[in-house]
Amino acid sequence: MELRTRLLIGGEWTDGSGRFATVNPATEETIAEVEEAGEAEVDAAVRSAREAFENPKWRHMDPHRRSALLWKLADLVEQNAAFIAETETRDNGKPLFESAKVDIPFVVANLRYFAGWADKLTGDVIPVSGDFLNYTLREPIGVVGAIVPWNFPLNIASWKLAPALACGNAVILKPAEQTPLTALLLGELALEAGFPPGILNVIPGRGPVTGQALVAHPGVDKICFTGSTETGRKVMQTAAAGPKKISLELGGKSPNVVFADADLDAAVKGAITGIFYGKGEVCAAGSRLLVERSVHEAFVEKLAERAASMTVGDPTDAKTRIGALVSAEQRDKVLRYIDYGREDGARLVTGGGRADVGGKGYFVEATVFDEVDSGMRIAQEEIFGPVLATLAFEDLDDAIDIANRTIYGLAAGVWTRDIGKAHRFAREVQAGTVWVNTYNRYDPASPFGGFKQSGFGRDLGEVALQEYTQTKSVWVALD
Ligand code: NAI
Ligand code: MG
Repeated sequence: MELRTRLLIGGEWTDGSGRFATVNPATEETIAEVEEAGEAEVDAAVRSAREAFENPKWRHMDPHRRSALLWKLADLVEQNAAFIAETETRDNGKPLFESAKVDIPFVVANLRYFAGWADKLTGDVIPVSGDFLNYTLREPIGVVGAIVPWNFPLNIASWKLAPALACGNAVILKPAEQTPLTALLLGELALEAGFPPGILNVIPGRGPVTGQALVAHPGVDKICFTGSTETGRKVMQTAAAGPKKISLELGGKSPNVVFADADLDAAVKGAITGIFYGKGEVCAAGSRLLVERSVHEAFVEKLAERAASMTVGDPTDAKTRIGALVSAEQRDKVLRYIDYGREDGARLVTGGGRADVGGKGYFVEATVFDEVDSGMRIAQEEIFGPVLATLAFEDLDDAIDIANRTIYGLAAGVWTRDIGKAHRFAREVQAGTVWVNTYNRYDPASPFGGFKQSGFGRDLGEVALQEYTQTKSVWVALD
């Protein structure tokens, strides 16, 4: 494979209304100039998706055949995994082991998982009053716009398009302007797999330009979005003019809660991966660490030692644990929050600044704050970087209270050997995913999404199919 830089619309590679540079955040070098879809190209993509959706070739395709296409796409991603992973790392700055060992294998597994659903979308036969047969059909929604962020570019794209295609929709994928490259590769592979032209269109571009035009377009039936809560709000407002269906997976400030009776070594490791995996640019990052008072001091000491030993560096180096933040803008945001932490009176335990990696790239040290108060900005706002806020708590009720003191509700972790405590926490915490004695686990079969301002709708799992189908109730008089 080679890099693609043009728009994929209706099975053709075309020019946009302008171009933008995508940068390797570890070197600050431009990787490629990519075409940007303006309003005209968004409109062309919507038309081609509509045509492809309504074409009997797709509309009446055997579900087994749809399943086979998705499976074929998974095979092609797997065959090209090395190049795709390397491209993801260059575009995003994440360590290569994350792209190669986690992200791309997840894309493959996810495509196969949803390939399996394509021929299992059954309705119900419903026992209604009177002499009638009533049954339900589950039909695709139509043209789906998928707007995805830069932290897991291809992975999150697959979370949207695998179920959307399995259910028989046509998709327009808008990758983030920071990381457009792997989405274009996926578009190429979808054509090679044999999806009809127009069933998957890929249109890079900036959010307020391409993203906005896609959400506003009356020919788009549904928007599935992952990104910030602020942009999610805008998407919802724009979509209200339809109104069109939306699902939003938004920000987080997830609590990771350690009780004194936990396996503390395992909990330290879990707290580390919880915040530093993916450079902390993870919506479910365990960015608020709550540690029971009696073990707090010893725990933070161990944690800080480990954090300080993590190699920040060249993402292609096997020793690197923390790569480059995605952009200068994101690095500056993270550094600003480190300043807020200091200003608000938290104690900086380790890290706290830019990391020097050969004088180039958007690197930030693994940073741990202690003595954080729940009201501080670093305990309330999504930082999206390698910055951990540590708080102390007294008992289970106190832990639950602090854990829930946030506008967000994406994920939560709890570490304890007491199963009653673990399950009570799981029941009381306001979060779409709860991890007990582990953190950052994902599987294509397990639903993921937010409570509260972390959004609504679910990615992954059987429940995700509801986001991409609509139910039709059919009444048949039997007399
Ligand atoms: P963003 O939410 O603005 O970007 C996500 C996607 O939305 C991108 O594809 C972008 O082009 C698109 N977009 C932006 N404005 C749009 C609009 N008006 N209409 C339609 N689409 C639009 O996030 P951004 O600006 O890249 O990052 C800012 C902060 O957002 C981060 O620091 C982080 O805190 C948070 N974020 C959270 C993510 C999550 O997974 N929860 C992912 C990315 C960012
Ligand atoms: Mg880039």
